[in-house]
Parts: sequence; structure tokens; C-alpha cells
Amino acid sequence: MVKPIYLDYNGTTPHDPEVIEAIRPFLEGAFGNPSSAHWYGIQPKKAVETARRQVAGMLNCSAGEIIFTSGGTESNNHAIRGMARWLQDKGNHIITSSFEHPAVFEVCGYLARNGFEITYLPVGEEGLVDPADVAKAIRPSTILISIMHANNEVGTVQPLKAISHIARKQGIALHTDAAQSVGKIPADVRQLGVDLLSIAGQKVYAPKGVGALYVRSLLEPENFCHGAGQETGRRAGTENIMGIVGLGKACELAQRDLEKNMAHMKFLRDRLHQGLQRSGGQPHPGRNRPRGGGFRRRGLPCRHGGAVSRSDSHGPSGSVGQRHNPFQCRQDDNRCGNRQGHPCGGRCGSPAKTGLMKKRFTCYDLRKHPSGISPWL
Ligand SMILES: Cc1ncc(COP(=O)(O)O)c(C=O)c1O
Repeated sequence: MVKPIYLDYNGTTPHDPEVIEAIRPFLEGAFGNPSSAHWYGIQPKKAVETARRQVAGMLNCSAGEIIFTSGGTESNNHAIRGMARWLQDKGNHIITSSFEHPAVFEVCGYLARNGFEITYLPVGEEGLVDPADVAKAIRPSTILISIMHANNEVGTVQPLKAISHIARKQGIALHTDAAQSVGKIPADVRQLGVDLLSIAGQKVYAPKGVGALYVRSLLEPENFCHGAGQETGRRAGTENIMGIVGLGKACELAQRDLEKNMAHMKFLRDRLHQGLQRSGGQPHPGRNRPRGGGFRRRGLPCRHGGAVSRSDSHGPSGSVGQRHNPFQCRQDDNRCGNRQGHPCGGRCGSPAKTGLMKKRFTCYDLRKHPSGISPWL
């Protein structure tokens, strides 16, 4: 029987054994509510605050600038909706890219239906937003720019530093969705010059259903979740203690091992690219990608004689990308494919014109995963 091979690390990652050990006391004994004022709340409360410092350490911000959430989607919703509501008296225009994950794209769509104006910047053939396009798109009513850090399909790293210079000069807040970059490349908020940054635990060897949002101090995005006063009143709901502890530990490990992980991932990515090219795949044209990318070929053959697009049971597990992504769309997809009506305005990257389905393969640290190693590696 063919052993399944996991090549979907952008989809999710397994739990790091050190993360599991960090969570164990809260699974087995320390069940208290971190918000309880009595003895049982003390250890969980301390653990939440340790995790906050661990996340802040990795992002190079202060612990008070971290809000725990239920994942990348909630962090993005909180950042974009919250800033839009907070700044609505100053303007109603938001700039984003045609390349974002649905957790940003759909939030912008929601805001567009509720009185906000959204500019979706195109991405060039290499999957990069041009900072000059950002500068040109700015209007007096622009209140927020949201451009992702690393793309979830092709891995290109956006020029955030350059975009941040433009945003700062104009006094416009900059948010980035860093769900796919954290732990893989440096995500230092001061270096990047971002005001808000979203992360997702499941992409960095922590549990699913936990995330964090960095909010630069003095910014006050409108409260996303109302209720009891957890997270200093910024996000109500009893803390997901196991998720938070796991995320904190995962961030500590990501910071500790970053150099080693980057070198290892580059090695794996390059071997995967070479192997897939030998098998007839075409890597996406982006040159600045931190991990494995998309491949423009339908039914790419795998060693076992099956087709990659039929790999849902055995063989390599990749994933078919989101429909609106210009690097993933098909000509018959009326949400994109350079058609009128798509927010990319017909200017999205040329790979869309090929009309071919693509498959995403992503590696991270296969040493941590018990499933098979790709025959391409
Ligand atoms: C870039 C990006 N942003 C946001 C998300 C959503 O994260 P979550 O599923 O943890 O809410 C994902 C998940 O795939 C992602 O890749």
C-alpha cells in the first residue's frame, strides 16, 4: 500500500512534541479558568501571560500589544473590521491586494457591502505587489492598507518594508496577514514597520483554533467580540488555554530555531522544485518564495503511477488553492480568470491566462512529521 505523504504544510502543521509537552499540564490537571480570582486560576493565568511574552518575543513587540484570538481568520477580521469601524469618521477607503487569503478578501468584501471602498491591487507575474501601485492608490479617505506577508499559495514575500514607508509618510495604518510567514522567515513588527499583524497557531506547529493579533499600542480597533472583559476588554471569551500555551511555546521554538529552519526549508523547497520539474511540473514564476510553490500542470504524474490531482487518499497530499487567487484561477472561473467583475480588474498575473488548474505543495520541517517523505525529496 502506498503510504500517504504530507506536503501541505501551508494547510496545517502537526504538533511539535515540545508544544505537546507544554500543553500537557493543562490537559491533565490545571483545568482552572485563567480569569478566576481564586487559587485554580493562578497557574493558567500565569501560563497565558507567559505565552503572551513568547509571542511578543518572536514578533519583537511588547506583551501588551498581543491579543489572543481563535486563529488567522479572527485576527484578520478583528484587524480590518476593527480598524475600519474605529477610523470610519476619518475615511472609508481600504487598500488590499487581489492576492489575499479569503480571511482578508472576504472581510473587505463585507466592508464594501457596508459603505467602504476597497482597492484591490494587482500582483505581477512574480506574485508581488508593487509599492508604487500602493502609493498611487492612496486617497485622502484611505484609512488602512492590508497586504499579506507571505502568500499561502505560492509563498512570495511581499515588500512590506517599502509599503510601510509609504503608509507611514501618509499616516495610514498598515496591517499584514502573517499566518504563512511566522516561524518560516523573520516577522519582526518593528523591522517590517507594520501596525497590525495576524498569526495562526496551526501554521507553526501549535494547535488549530488559536491565533494572535499584534496591535501597535495607541491603536484601538473596535472590539470584535463583546462579553466578559478577557484580553483587557479587547476580545471577550474564556481563554483557549491549551491553544494559547501551545502557540506561545511554538513561537518560542520558532524564534529559537529560525535560522536552522530557514536553511532546512530552503533545502527541501529547492529539492522539491527540482524533483517536480524533473516530473514535468512548472513551478510558479515567483523568485522570492520562502517555501514550496504551486505547479502549473494538471494531473502531474507521481512515482506510483497515480495523478497528483487524485492524491486525496494515498500518495502526496497537496491542496488545490482558493478560487479567487490569480495564480490559481481557471479561465472558466467567472470570479477571476481576468474577467470583468473580479476585483483584480483584469490585471492579475499572467499565469491566470493559462487556464490550468494548479496544485500546491508545501514543505516546512518534514523531520517533525511521522508520515512518509516525498519520493521527490
Ligand atoms: C494567509 C492565511 N491567512 C489566514 C488564514 C486563516 O487561518 P485560520 O484557518 O487559522 O483561521 C490562513 C489559513 O490557511 C492563511 O493561509
